[in-house]
Amino acid sequence: MIETLADTAAPSNDVVCALAPVGLLAELTHRCPLQCPYCSNPVALEKTASDLPTEIWLDVMRQAADLGVLQLHLSGGEPLLRPDLEQIVEQASKSGLYTNLITSAATLTRERLSALADLGLDHVQISMQDANAANSDRLGGAKNGHAKKLEAATWVKDIGLALTINAPVHRQNVDNLAAIIAMAEQLGAGRVEVAHVQYYGWALVNRAALMPTREQVMRSIEVVAAARKRLAGRMLIDFVAPDYFAHRPKPCMGGWGRGSMNVTPSGKVLPCHAAESIPGLVFDNVRTRRLRDIWLNGQAFQQYRGTAWMKEPCQSCELKEVDWGGCRCQAMMIAGDAAAADPACGKSPLHDRMQTFALRDPAAADAPLVLRNYRSAAELAG
Ligand code: FES
Repeated sequence: MIETLADTAAPSNDVVCALAPVGLLAELTHRCPLQCPYCSNPVALEKTASDLPTEIWLDVMRQAADLGVLQLHLSGGEPLLRPDLEQIVEQASKSGLYTNLITSAATLTRERLSALADLGLDHVQISMQDANAANSDRLGGAKNGHAKKLEAATWVKDIGLALTINAPVHRQNVDNLAAIIAMAEQLGAGRVEVAHVQYYGWALVNRAALMPTREQVMRSIEVVAAARKRLAGRMLIDFVAPDYFAHRPKPCMGGWGRGSMNVTPSGKVLPCHAAESIPGLVFDNVRTRRLRDIWLNGQAFQQYRGTAWMKEPCQSCELKEVDWGGCRCQAMMIAGDAAAADPACGKSPLHDRMQTFALRDPAAADAPLVLRNYRSAAELAG
């Protein structure tokens, strides 16, 4: 059990290997040319001045590989805005990490992509806001962004890299889901990730404008089922259902501190991208503590790892090692207690409250979209 082994002060190499996170999400900067209103970054965006210098990121790559991380996800904001991205990819690849670039592609050039591939980049994920260009550019807040993404996707295939299309869906684009999947198919993607927006951070700010209706959700499930049948063996379709319409919680992050970790632009190490919304957690920084020690012994990772922290109804639930209590950040948001059951679960006493939001929010037809940028962040901070 993870909670027992992680308590070990000086674990053997075998134990560390058995406990290693599979993935590390490196948020290289919070700057971004797009302004997506459902961005998973915290509303309090980190300032560029606090971004980690190159040498620390290179060391993080080496430490991650030593720890046993297999997959490196280079994200942001927009990772292409780091001029040292090439050095980071090269070091990650030399260290044996599978490298995945998660990008808006808005500032990508064919030459840069080709150079990154030569340095060891394995995989590219391009986020698409819609199949409709005008709506895509409106949602991303970037002129001609959609056309640029389509062109960049063709480069990914030409160069021979693996391509995933990320398609976050919500009330303002989900009616085009069949066209979005067809677009990914046309682009030659090996995988498309259709993810109903999860309402943390910027998406929570925009929940009234983005929450789909129940009918839209049900239709999206049918569209994905039909597309999976049609595209079986040709394109993988991952689907993330919306928590607000669920009766069972998802095992968020595969369980807290079980399989992945995030490093923010300033070097804070988080168990999930929204963990800073939970008060009382202590986030260690790669500037001052080794990644392995943070993963194994850091307070933020230990706090909700395993099952010992669970209250009822989770503690006696036969599925507690399947869903790991759901999402801690959502429990904090809806229940005001990160150790409570995720209200997405039908056993939660607050499940009805969540369903109330799911019914109420889609009726807010004129809810404004707050675009994700530093100006909005300052206004939201008051
Ligand atoms: Fe933080 Fe789910 S988003 S645990």
